[in-house]
Amino acid sequence: MSSDSSVLQSSVVIDQAVQILRDGGLVAFPTETVYGLGADAKNPDAIKKIFTTKGRPSNHPLIVHLAAPDLFEKTPVDWVPVMVPWVRDLSEDALKLINAFWPGPLTLVLKKDKAVLVELTGGQDTVAIRVPAHPIAQELLRQFKGGLVAPSANRFGKVSPTSAADVRSEFEDMPDLLILDGGDCEVGIESTIIDLSSGDRAVLLRPGLITPSEIFAKTGMKVYLPGEVNVSERDATLPRVSGTLRAHYAPTTPLRMYASGRVLDALSEFPDIKSRVAVAVWDSDSSLGEDGHPSVHFEEVIIPSDSAIFASRLYRSLRDLDQQGWDLILFPEPPVGEEWDGVRDRLQRACFGSGPSSSSHANN
Ligand code: TXA
Ligand code: MG
Repeated sequence: MSSDSSVLQSSVVIDQAVQILRDGGLVAFPTETVYGLGADAKNPDAIKKIFTTKGRPSNHPLIVHLAAPDLFEKTPVDWVPVMVPWVRDLSEDALKLINAFWPGPLTLVLKKDKAVLVELTGGQDTVAIRVPAHPIAQELLRQFKGGLVAPSANRFGKVSPTSAADVRSEFEDMPDLLILDGGDCEVGIESTIIDLSSGDRAVLLRPGLITPSEIFAKTGMKVYLPGEVNVSERDATLPRVSGTLRAHYAPTTPLRMYASGRVLDALSEFPDIKSRVAVAVWDSDSSLGEDGHPSVHFEEVIIPSDSAIFASRLYRSLRDLDQQGWDLILFPEPPVGEEWDGVRDRLQRACFGSGPSSSSHANN
């Protein structure tokens, strides 16, 4: 296919997607983090469809995705008009983060404008907003001329999709769902979420590719971890985040982490397992050799020891391994270090929720 005809084809598909969204339907689209399941943020019925399609409890709030201002490559751009319809009190801190990281994998939680539907905020007085960098997401948002709520395009509690084919397999029972194909997601785990709604402190609600040190380096702002905010203050101000459920992003095959050199300890939790264990091994370690193999059929799966590359492939690996009929999947514990916090967080939740009964865990 010539590049001209593929451009033509994609603009036709975007037109079709915009029409579906205007009519209150759902469209899946790529972002740089994971694929999203989009709906018109101003349409309560469309928002309801998102919750029922995902099987997500209605008190778990959604992120509003917005288009960047035109010519955002030519700094400085004015983000205020983009935000004004959605938030009140756009603080200097918020603008610092926006100027440094948007469009990109950063979500900000701010006090919502009264016009923002409580259906999408889970009844809270705050709204989460992100401007994704993926060109197809931006094109869709620009053409739609409005905000799109877009949770990750997976069933509640399951692994987020990082390709169009992943979305298709999550929603096999919805053959008519339009999925815009933007290839594999580069970041691979969901956006970093920073809460700025409680006044003077920025609090990290979900770790991602953008870390607190990177935020400090680019803006001079200190980002607090939820544990660093005094408990009563936190209870009063920190909103509910579905990503904070212990079980989330979970495969159906049991998944555990092993400490370096401790594969056998992780196995001892599963005395009945006789065969078919997939063991992920860092590409920097030559093999499991020193950890010793019991009378179990291990198969090594090499994984990248660079945190960003690891993140970009994590969900892909979990999905693929989940399809391969292993009895157990073992991943090494990620190293200590902030750049690993996002993947450690996702792996821990995936371990906790994994196994055949994962959906019942996740829905607790
Ligand atoms: O990378 C991403 O953020 C992806 C792509 C598609 O943009 N989206 C995504 O959406 O991860 P979802 O719905 O799977 O996760 C949204 C997270 C949830 O943990 C939710 O609780 C939190 O954002 N959230 C949304 N609104 C919030 C609010 N007002 N206060 C606190 N957390 C909020
Ligand atoms: Mg999600």
